[in-house]
Amino acid sequence: METTRKHGSYGTVRAQSPRTAAGTLPSEAVTILELTTSCDPRLNVDVLVLAAAHIDQTPVLLTDGVVNQGLDFTALATALPTTGFTGELDAVIRVPSSVLGSDVRAVRADSLLIVGKIGRAVQQECRGLAAGSGDETALGADRAGVLRRAAGCAARELAGMDSAAFLLPADDLDDLRAVTEGALVGAYAWSGRVPAPTAPLGRVVVATALADSVEASAAEARAIALAEATALARDLVNEPPNRLTPQTFTQRARAVADDAGLDIEILDEALLREQGFGGIVGVGQGSVHPPFLVRVSWVPDNPAQRIALIGKGITFDSGGLSLKPPASMPEMKSDMAGAATVLGAVLAAARLELGVRVDAWLALAENMPTADAQRPSDIVTMRDGTTVEVTNTDAEGRLVMADALARAIEDKPDCVLDIATLTGAQIIALGDRVSGVMGTPPLRDEVARCAAEAGEAFWPMPLPEHLRSALETPFAGLRNADISSRAGGMLVAGLFLREFVGDVPWAHLDIAGPAYNEKSPWGATPVGGTGAGLATLLALLSDRGRRPPSEPLR
Ligand code: BES
Ligand code: MN
Ligand code: ZN
Repeated sequence: METTRKHGSYGTVRAQSPRTAAGTLPSEAVTILELTTSCDPRLNVDVLVLAAAHIDQTPVLLTDGVVNQGLDFTALATALPTTGFTGELDAVIRVPSSVLGSDVRAVRADSLLIVGKIGRAVQQECRGLAAGSGDETALGADRAGVLRRAAGCAARELAGMDSAAFLLPADDLDDLRAVTEGALVGAYAWSGRVPAPTAPLGRVVVATALADSVEASAAEARAIALAEATALARDLVNEPPNRLTPQTFTQRARAVADDAGLDIEILDEALLREQGFGGIVGVGQGSVHPPFLVRVSWVPDNPAQRIALIGKGITFDSGGLSLKPPASMPEMKSDMAGAATVLGAVLAAARLELGVRVDAWLALAENMPTADAQRPSDIVTMRDGTTVEVTNTDAEGRLVMADALARAIEDKPDCVLDIATLTGAQIIALGDRVSGVMGTPPLRDEVARCAAEAGEAFWPMPLPEHLRSALETPFAGLRNADISSRAGGMLVAGLFLREFVGDVPWAHLDIAGPAYNEKSPWGATPVGGTGAGLATLLALLSDRGRRPPSEPLR
């Protein structure tokens, strides 16, 4: 028996007008996922996807654990090393299905896509050595991570095609999760491009011996929820800042909440002023598009825990009066990626009916340098009463995040996680594919662990006490930046946020580099918005949803 599930409502759409009115949503979902155990070789798909490992400089077709649909790949395996295809990670080659020799009549697919797959862990495994190798495993590139990336790469390469069957190792649950999640997340294509948006791959068929099991349905549901949330986050990040203002973002959040049965609370500028959110108001006051703070909540019956997620939602960061140089600006349309990610995470929690209450806080503002903009040396009073001297208006993220954190902990959550494109220093320290995670050590390390399991790269970073003095000023409780030193910038920002979380277990995720891909696509990651952090947050939420309420939380 085959199961067919539709990707959720926020998948990319084949023919959607790019001029979608504010607050409306893509109406038609396209990427469909099917699991099949069927050994019928006449799979009704356009392309068969196979994987090859790169071993001793040659591509070796992976057949262990693959439901091969009764096809004989011997001729292909023999021919592969002569094609120039290496089998390295992110390498792909498309070959006509006639390479299957006499079996060709049995296949409707007219081509095969072979996708490369490497990584020390996988290579060692292929040689019969122990799996997993230190740093790579911790960065999410263990066997499953590499498989996820290969499946993602294949799905991405197949944009515009109707259907593909993934004949990748998927006979154990970790492999199956990796293949389904990689393929669906990789199948994204931005629908808003003018002219000519690309259609994502329409149908993903995954061949697995587990197809009819309960675990496989759970994996399937998880992959669909993750892909839907990722598409939502990427769409929001890719949207240009003239079309995505704090207000239109708020309308999108409302539409998501209505669709998924989530609770929503919207604080506009007047309410923010009235309720003492000096950080958000100060950052937003230089823009004609006023700021908002939005809470979107998933509230299950008898939640095991209550988790607050805070996302930085600067729809455009010009730097304000501490203006950024021109070359640094275009990427700043992505400075709302944290808010997009927490909106995606709460949507996924609802779709999967997780057993935790999730409060997602979107701290939305535009940072602009107009006549009434905040000045370097202004002093603002934050939600919790802390006064902050704004020494650099470009350190705006910590101001909006601090206000939202202070508000979130008033509800006494079991833990709070914030996610933000917070510092250029994150990119200097870790590059553009590895995020930093700081905070209360047990929660910080839990995030890093969840990331590794989810195939993402989050590296734990310290919050050294000696850097705390960078935030001291004679004029206020804190200053937002030390303009004379950039040393440890990511950590200083983390120390600033720490002032606002009280004694609630807290993790701070700095995704400045990974949130937006200006370079080439790789694995399941397209150019533009990436959805970085979503898989990690979802892993953490579902983990904690399974934990009985009586268990200690810290
Ligand atoms: N949004 C930026 C951080 C950023 C930089 C994200 C590059 C993605 C790519 C943030 O608001 C910022 O400008 N941070 C300043 C802080 C500094 C003034 C203390 C930075 O990192 O330079
Ligand atoms: Mn900034
Ligand atoms: Zn910013």
